[in-house]
Amino acid sequence: MNIEQIREDFPVLQRKIKGKPIVYLDNAATSLKPKQVIAAERNYYENVGANVHRGLHILSEEASREHENAHETVAKFLGAKKEETIFVRNATEGMNLMMYSLMNSSFFKKGDKIVVSKMEHHSNIVPWQFLEKKLGVKLEYVGLLDNYELDMNDFEKKASGAKLVSITGASNTVATLPDIRAIEKLAHKEGALVHIDGAQLVPHHETNFGSLNIDFLSFSGHKMLAPTGTGALVAKKKLLEDLEPFMFGGDMIHSVQWHSSTWNTLPNKYEAGTPNIAGSYGIKAAVEYLKKIGMANIAKQEERLTKIAIEELSRINSIKMFCPKNEKKQGGIVLFESSKLSAHELAMALSESENICIRSGMHCAEPLVSSLNKEGLARASFYFYNTEEEVRFFARALKDVLASFG
Ligand code: ALA
Repeated sequence: MNIEQIREDFPVLQRKIKGKPIVYLDNAATSLKPKQVIAAERNYYENVGANVHRGLHILSEEASREHENAHETVAKFLGAKKEETIFVRNATEGMNLMMYSLMNSSFFKKGDKIVVSKMEHHSNIVPWQFLEKKLGVKLEYVGLLDNYELDMNDFEKKASGAKLVSITGASNTVATLPDIRAIEKLAHKEGALVHIDGAQLVPHHETNFGSLNIDFLSFSGHKMLAPTGTGALVAKKKLLEDLEPFMFGGDMIHSVQWHSSTWNTLPNKYEAGTPNIAGSYGIKAAVEYLKKIGMANIAKQEERLTKIAIEELSRINSIKMFCPKNEKKQGGIVLFESSKLSAHELAMALSESENICIRSGMHCAEPLVSSLNKEGLARASFYFYNTEEEVRFFARALKDVLASFG
């Protein structure tokens, strides 16, 4: 993997602001896009432009073919079938789709248990809170160990009798990587459905829906080089056949009469209205790009960067990290605070002094983050195009900023 060559594909990395390059370490929020993805989107708007599934003319046929191919490409990338791969705007929409489809199908009744963990993103908390209010289901949170790993003993207890287990595959805050296989086995033994929030997993680690044997997987395309407004909910075919759809309208129907309708085949049943066609061109190009580099190489590079970040930040006295501090046990994310400056002050100072982009605040995981620091935490997050030099530069800049505050 030639990082310098790879970096040339990313226009934002060529930018200079106030004469200095950008050090982009906010990849957990969204990734940068390579020119191949930008060109694919542009190709749709410049050369095709037509709607899908609605015309027999040459342009609509071309757009439809590419949109279908994008489903095939994403499905194959995830070891799933095309019929199991529903395109959505992002992981959040995927989880909402799942929640509404389960609710519309009367899957839950009062008192049923939904199990999540304490390190979930709001997208994997708030939909279930809605069901608590609406249907009287019980939302239970699995705790974390002192090193921020999922407490599997607690999981075993909480999973008992659960109807749905919905856990992150990689935390966007404390960075831990739960044991999905163990979760799947325990949850299925209890007869629960299993959803994995793959927003921080799919872009960084090879993820095979089929061999993981989970029921649902959601992820966002924009965190893995694809345009914003792309992503998928992957679900077992049988479930998608049995469940009711969430959105109703064009393209999701087979036939419509005055007072009843029948549904289209999968995955169209769950994709109402004109989809993000340009996004389909983009996500296909993104997956092709990732496959060319190889997910194993991506994971290895991020492991290297995380190791350096942990070592460097450990040497700064006023910094405390909230992650396992072990690159083998975490994704490419380092969550931290300083006893000298707030997370927002740190993020602003790094941006102003050296164009270093990190995120600060609650990270869409307020219950957990506010329990660690009421003011919010700082987060550096890496992708394969980041370099070891960038991580060392970030640590040096952090030291300098802190030193200037005494
Ligand atoms: N979920 C994204 C993050 O963690 C936006 O930053």
